[in-house]
Amino acid sequence: MSLPPGFLDELRTRISLSQVVGRKVAWDQRKSNQGKGDMWAPCPFHQEKTASFHVDDRQGFYYCFGCHAKGDAISFIRETENVGFMEAIEILAREAGMQVPARDPKAQEKADRRTELADAMEQAVQFYRLQLKTGAASEARDYLARRGLSEATQARFDIGFAPDGRQSLWAHLSGKGVSPDLILDAGLAAKPDDGGAPFDRFRGRIIFPIRDPRGRCIALGGRAMAADARAKYLNSPETELFDKGRNLYNYGPAREAAGKGQSLIVAEGYMDVIALVEAGFGATVAPLGTAITEDQLRLMWRIHPEPLIALDGDAAGLRAAMRVIDLALPILEAGQSLRFAIMPDGLDPDDLIRAHGASGMQRQIDQAIPMVQLLWRRETEGKDFDSPERKAALDRVLRDAIRKIADPSIRSHYAEEIKQLRWQLFRGGNPKSGPQRQIFSSGKRKTLPAMPSTKSSYLAAAAGAGAEEHLREAVILATLVANPDIVERFEVALERLDMTSAEHRAIRSAILGNADASNLRAAVEADLGAPALEKLMALSHVQISAGVLHSGDSEIASMCVAQELAKLAARRGAEKEIADAMQEMGDFADEGITWRLMQAAEARNEAERSQTQDRAEYELGDNGAKINRDERTALKELLGRIDFTKGSDRSKS
Ligand code: UTP
Ligand code: MN
Repeated sequence: MSLPPGFLDELRTRISLSQVVGRKVAWDQRKSNQGKGDMWAPCPFHQEKTASFHVDDRQGFYYCFGCHAKGDAISFIRETENVGFMEAIEILAREAGMQVPARDPKAQEKADRRTELADAMEQAVQFYRLQLKTGAASEARDYLARRGLSEATQARFDIGFAPDGRQSLWAHLSGKGVSPDLILDAGLAAKPDDGGAPFDRFRGRIIFPIRDPRGRCIALGGRAMAADARAKYLNSPETELFDKGRNLYNYGPAREAAGKGQSLIVAEGYMDVIALVEAGFGATVAPLGTAITEDQLRLMWRIHPEPLIALDGDAAGLRAAMRVIDLALPILEAGQSLRFAIMPDGLDPDDLIRAHGASGMQRQIDQAIPMVQLLWRRETEGKDFDSPERKAALDRVLRDAIRKIADPSIRSHYAEEIKQLRWQLFRGGNPKSGPQRQIFSSGKRKTLPAMPSTKSSYLAAAAGAGAEEHLREAVILATLVANPDIVERFEVALERLDMTSAEHRAIRSAILGNADASNLRAAVEADLGAPALEKLMALSHVQISAGVLHSGDSEIASMCVAQELAKLAARRGAEKEIADAMQEMGDFADEGITWRLMQAAEARNEAERSQTQDRAEYELGDNGAKINRDERTALKELLGRIDFTKGSDRSKS
């Protein structure tokens, strides 16, 4: 569907942003000035007590001075309701009393059909809710009470009871005028193969409604009450509404809680989610009776950068964790990762909370380990590395795992971390003293011995290189501050740039967050304090850079930023090559070699720099590739001269 011209403008003028936002926040009455359309509230996108979230009702824009969330009514609806652009438009248009342009007939038909199915599901939910109050459900009520689910909890999750008849729901829905096809297509009843009468899918079970992010019921989960039931849980089949690999139990409420700053916890089952939510961990989700899928990981990352996978402390839980690792490695991106909390003593989170309370669960969350460590443990725990062959085998599996990571920066950090752990194992620890200590079963965290000084790592060995990158970043940031009108052009590149320091990251987000401010420099200063920019601008490289010297000339400034970005990309391309090469060398990549490699790379870069100083601007791809080729030559040369036996001796001693 395309929108008629002027539709969005009309929508924006009709909608009051403060009214839209006002449903999700509590305005700070003292700070706000309703008459002027100048409204303040604690930010709905991050956890805070002060009111840093500003709505300019006349302009129709919001901006948070804390987390830099910004946008208009449409983006606000998209963010808070978790809907796409067109859906957000529809929601707002309905509110503004505007006629939403007709969708193309097929899409409209599909939407209508989904609405019909969801309505049937909702009627089923309400029927099952009522059944739970009847005399026939006393066993079900006892069961729920035994499991510690109060009536308030049951209401919160809309828990119901499916009576044990063949056509209880069927009769009820039919009586309400729901067509047989709809009941069957919603997966609420099934037709036997022998052509007999349709029968209810859920019989004699506790019912857990499964909702989509907008709260519409798309499926049901049913738990048997008898311990020896053939299937403990029975879920809706896949239907037009329900794709079990693309939904998560409790996603909508979890999204809201995560938006308020809670950790996102991923549990295995319905009961775990309910127990966790009741214990105060509102941002909890679970897959729907299958292993976690890639789609589900992406859904989680949409609402939290580092979901915490809470897994049962049994063999199955660990296997599940390993599957998640393999799934996640190829799709890791900067700022999105996973942590793992393995529940102790074979408990699941529900059991754990019953045994040790919310604080017991909190302890497990606090002790969660990053994915790289779990990966390491999977390959090393309970194993002996007392022979070169065994060490080589370990190197191989680790290398294979790291290779799966598509993001170059994350890959090199993983390689680095694994290398550190490997050193501890092979030199620090005593590999002859029997198998590595098991920590999974004890639930205790292994306290790792101190890392070898990070100075000795290859990244830091290239301290000179780091300093140069830092300067280039500084020039980019300063040029942008001095030339606000080019910020928009570089927004994406800036967002993607790996910054070498937290200071630079802070300046970057202040620039991006204030891109539309009338005085960018003042706005950045307001965010970070004046000293941050003074320090940046005082660097001699910055002062003499063209984009700062000629501030106001956006042509020069753009060239300058593009050039610095190109050089950074080229450098980092070369580093990635080296990191890859080191991975390939595996066992042999010790400190001495990597240091010499970095020196060689540095020398190459130096030569490259003087040659291409003036023509690097837009040759990003070519330039990077050239350095990489040269790097490879340098590598080969070096490898030819290195005595490998010496390298591996070192790591064994
Ligand atoms: P669990 O057996 O760990 O479930 O299965 P649980 O939530 O702890 O159940 P309780 O505490 O015994 O009631 C985890 C999830 O796997 C799916 C369900 O989604 C369940 O929540 N499952 C389990 C099934 O789909 N079918 C089964 O037979 C068992
Ligand atoms: Mn359980």
